Amino acid sequence: MSAPNMAVDLGGIKMHNPINTAAGTYGFGWQFEGFYDVSQLGAITTKGCAAEAWPGNPKPRMCEVTSGVMNSVGLMNPGVRGLVEQSGEYLQGLSDKGCAVICQVAGHSVDEYVAAVELFEELAPFAAGLEINISCPNIAAGGCAMGSTPDGAAEVIRALRPRTDRPLLVKMAPARVVEVAKALEAEGADALSVINSIPAMSIDVHTRRSRLSRPTGGLSGPCLHNIAVRMVWEVAHAVDIPVNGVGGVMSGADAAEFILAGATSVSVGMSNLVRPDSAPRILSELVSWVEEQGVDDVNDLIGAFEC
Ligand SMILES: Cc1cc2nc3c(=O)[nH]c(=O)nc-3n(C[C@H](O)[C@H](O)[C@H](O)COP(=O)(O)O)c2cc1C
Repeated sequence: MSAPNMAVDLGGIKMHNPINTAAGTYGFGWQFEGFYDVSQLGAITTKGCAAEAWPGNPKPRMCEVTSGVMNSVGLMNPGVRGLVEQSGEYLQGLSDKGCAVICQVAGHSVDEYVAAVELFEELAPFAAGLEINISCPNIAAGGCAMGSTPDGAAEVIRALRPRTDRPLLVKMAPARVVEVAKALEAEGADALSVINSIPAMSIDVHTRRSRLSRPTGGLSGPCLHNIAVRMVWEVAHAVDIPVNGVGGVMSGADAAEFILAGATSVSVGMSNLVRPDSAPRILSELVSWVEEQGVDDVNDLIGAFEC
């Protein structure tokens, strides 16, 4: 039997296989070139960038917890101009090799999202799509609240939709996912990334202090995988636009679970921090699973879950 077709279409973003990377866990891609050829992945998603550089939160901003990590990085980023200056040439080359480059957009307000999208439009011809992060749990005002309600989420996409013809992905907070997904689809979002990290807390009982520099942070890793699978399944049933599954993917079986629940593509996140060569391993395990299922196209398995 010949190799199965692994190519998928994530709302207009053409991927030669369903494996993507989760924003903030993969830098700007080139950091992983010493470990493997990044262009074998279907897509990469770059760290969320705003119109201007952000310094992020004070340290410590990462800690390990049971079956996961917590972070309060606070979206430290070089700004869109910094991204293009430091990584633009590499990202153009990656795109030329057929790996879709998805640029994540951050903002504290609708105006800041608009400014960032306008800069990406002007400076980033390599971007196959823009992923709007309306869900970062680390920012006290703006991002978090906007992504948590259908009205707030819709307001951001309503402002951005007329400003770009590129596919618009939205990275959703793990809250009210069905209502928010429907609101985003109605405003013209092309695809949804489900889910961002879950707001959480970790306390050092000896010092009685937070293990991060802030009281709360975002929880990632295997501990949230099955919550994310359930949310992908709910969203995939509620909307007609494709879903990118994110959360605790450590193996090809975890990625397959998202696809069966209805995801078109899957992002590898924390696993990149545990082992930098995770993403190609997960891809090869996913290909083996598709072969084992006896189908010649991965698309036949999207949403093929049966109760
Ligand atoms: C250190 C770190 C930084 C992150 N930065 C971002 C970010 O910039 N934008 C974003 O949408 N999500 C960010 N995330 C969340 C991930 O993209 C992902 O949604 C989450 O970690 C769940 O997937 P995982 O369990 O596979 O890591 C970050 C996660 C970690 C661990």
